Amino acid sequence: MIRAVPLGCGGYLPEKVMTNADFAARLDTSDEWIRSRTGIGARHMAAEGELTSDLATAAARRALDHAGLTGADIDLVVIATATPDRTFPSTATKVQHAIGMTGGFAFDVQAVCAGFIYALSLADALIFKGQARRALIIGAETFSRILDWEDRTTCVLFGDGAGAVILGAHEGEGAPSDRGLLATCLHSDGAHQDILYVDGGPSSTQTSGKLRMQGREVFKHAVAKLAEVADEAMEKAGVASADIDWVVPHQANLRIIEATAKKAGVPMEKVILTLQDHGNTSAASIPLALSTAVHDGRIGRGDLLLMEAIGGGLVWGAALLRW
Ligand code: ACO
Repeated sequence: MIRAVPLGCGGYLPEKVMTNADFAARLDTSDEWIRSRTGIGARHMAAEGELTSDLATAAARRALDHAGLTGADIDLVVIATATPDRTFPSTATKVQHAIGMTGGFAFDVQAVCAGFIYALSLADALIFKGQARRALIIGAETFSRILDWEDRTTCVLFGDGAGAVILGAHEGEGAPSDRGLLATCLHSDGAHQDILYVDGGPSSTQTSGKLRMQGREVFKHAVAKLAEVADEAMEKAGVASADIDWVVPHQANLRIIEATAKKAGVPMEKVILTLQDHGNTSAASIPLALSTAVHDGRIGRGDLLLMEAIGGGLVWGAALLRW
């Protein structure tokens, strides 16, 4: 049987950092408000002319280095992004070219903040079916381009960045049968379109639009749905909360992360947090957090990771990955 096992990961954050004090200097807000409500202290912002594909390519190169591979070894690129360079072609095809891949296939996935979980699940399925052997799965966003910079209720929450993970097919005798994705659970419910959306798009307004959100509503759904989907994934994989080595959650809000960890029965010492430095980087937040913790030595080979995320749609999901 073929299994997809993790081969490497990497992250990239643009150089420019915006602190809460930078927001307080131009809007009616404060470091105290932002930190106490969200846990966010700073976020990175792409430079003028720095595109989602640039961030994705930088993260991809770091993941390739970590895995000891080159672009020529990859035959699938999946990019989760809600902020593509262009309406088409996909950002994934741009990255495919940038890393020197001349074969295989590449496409984007749009599931906003849950995009990385969706992309991981798809890549795993394609490897399992024998359609790809080495997949580069990237979450990359430049949310700074779709924020309303006058709206203090949303613009303080997000940052730009990219994270990448490589999965490779492993088969036959001696396969590390317990490594790889043990379970993924994906959900969406389009009835909640109006609580988190971007008010533009090529078909409706011919503009890219700005992010709009009813924060409290999103908060309520996030806590309930993430707890449910985490339980569902653990049940599907036949593991208990005590088996989880690390929770690598979508980094939207510390209070959502704490409530979800509590409901899942996992102590906060086992939760990877990057939102204090990265803000919410949407589809990039999980692979960036994963990459941070792998490269600083907290996450080691064989560790069992619970990843969960929710975003506009609503879309949500969870994955159990043995690193
Ligand atoms: N600085 C100062 N005051 C603010 C700010 C700010 N940045 N933003 C809002 N306020 C004010 C509001 O205007 C309001 O003032 P009012 O009472 O005079 O009207 C007051 O603070 C309370 O506003 P609420 O929206 O009720 O504040 P709440 O405690 O719900 O916190 C927050 C808002 C942080 C957005 C919270 O609802 C939240 O985190 N929701 C989850 C949303 C989220 O994480 N979205 C990310 C995208 S989806 C995802 O990734 C999961």
